[in-house]
Amino acid sequence: MYRVGIVGYGTVGSGVAELLIKNKDVIKEKTGIDISLNAVLDKDWTRERPFNIDDNLRANSFEDLLDKSDIVVELIGGVNIAKDIIEKAMENKKHVVSANKHLLALHGKELIEKAYKYGVGFEFEASVGGGIPIIKALKEGLVANRINYIHGILNGTTNYILTRMLDDGMDFDIALKEAQSLGYAEQDPTFDIEGIDAAHKITILASIAYGGHINFKDVYIEGISNINLLDVELGRELGYTIKLLAVAKSTNNELEVRVHPAFIKSQEQMSKVSGVYNAILIDGDFVGKTLLYGKGAGSKPTASAVVSDIVDIAKHSGRSFLAFNKSLKINKNFYTRYYIRFEVEDKIGVLASITNVFAKYGISIASVLQKEMVCKVAKKENSLIVPLVILTHKAYELDVSKAIEEIKNLSVVKEKPVLIRLEEE
Ligand code: HSE
Repeated sequence: MYRVGIVGYGTVGSGVAELLIKNKDVIKEKTGIDISLNAVLDKDWTRERPFNIDDNLRANSFEDLLDKSDIVVELIGGVNIAKDIIEKAMENKKHVVSANKHLLALHGKELIEKAYKYGVGFEFEASVGGGIPIIKALKEGLVANRINYIHGILNGTTNYILTRMLDDGMDFDIALKEAQSLGYAEQDPTFDIEGIDAAHKITILASIAYGGHINFKDVYIEGISNINLLDVELGRELGYTIKLLAVAKSTNNELEVRVHPAFIKSQEQMSKVSGVYNAILIDGDFVGKTLLYGKGAGSKPTASAVVSDIVDIAKHSGRSFLAFNKSLKINKNFYTRYYIRFEVEDKIGVLASITNVFAKYGISIASVLQKEMVCKVAKKENSLIVPLVILTHKAYELDVSKAIEEIKNLSVVKEKPVLIRLEEE
């Protein structure tokens, strides 16, 4: 018999309670283990929840909850108080389950070491990809592989917004409000929009996949707030779909860990992941490509992942399998393909002057598209201003930055160039 105590009875907490109560028999039949919800702690019992528990399950204090639990489930989110709760639970020899991606991305190594020290289990499947069992896939099913790369659509809110922009030409703000009303957004939506939530998640995945610690400050993060419908459309015309992509990729014993808008070939499966769904593509040296797809947020899918951790701890008596001790070397000079849009004067020699700079930095151009019809700026000095899009072959980020810096200063270039990376499987 394992007794569970939940700290934080919000959207996910109430989903976990509902699942533990409604599927208690299913878990027992499949595993032979009795798991029982024994205590719940929350600071405000007046809030509306999707599922209500009996009053006698309410704990009076954290100490009361510790007394009544073998496994403590931290679902309050945020960093400092959550960390205190987890550490106190471990010091009291309680196993811990958490869904807290922010905390894990910043302090995962420290907490895992603490779990080892106190001989307790520490699991956090629900911190990435909601109900998708991606952490279990990486640390169990795919553990024998060297991971070439991970591509993830890890934030439902931004995927919802980009899907609405792409499919319905909807404005960014309205799509964000819709995603918030569906309960997918973070309390602070800048975490979603600016790619921070996805960065927390890819940091956790990369740490597991590459067996080491990543300093969150080394992760490159760019959100979707500057995405323009013109680029979404031009990308589509060139055969690409825009996504907020989280990437972890090993190159020459170093690791690229980044989150940014990216064009993906429209025929690839990842480009078809729409709305609030999440997907993670893993390329391992023996397994090849494996794709996991499902609901990345919401009360019930997230509860499914939390309870899988509780069962895991009960099955293995809490032995944790993860080691984050090695420090991973991060490479910031990405090697990938690029979409670059310049707003240029439509006159003799413009294309040549731009391509000269690309050649100077050893960047090979894959295709060029100039739109005669789209004139953002009216006639000026007898010439039209038109968008000129260049797709490169694979190139180094530092070379591309230098080339863009130089091209930006040409008199024929009229606006700040737009750069969107292009990721291929
Ligand atoms: N804000 C997150 C999302 C919730 O939109 O995917 C799940 O972590």
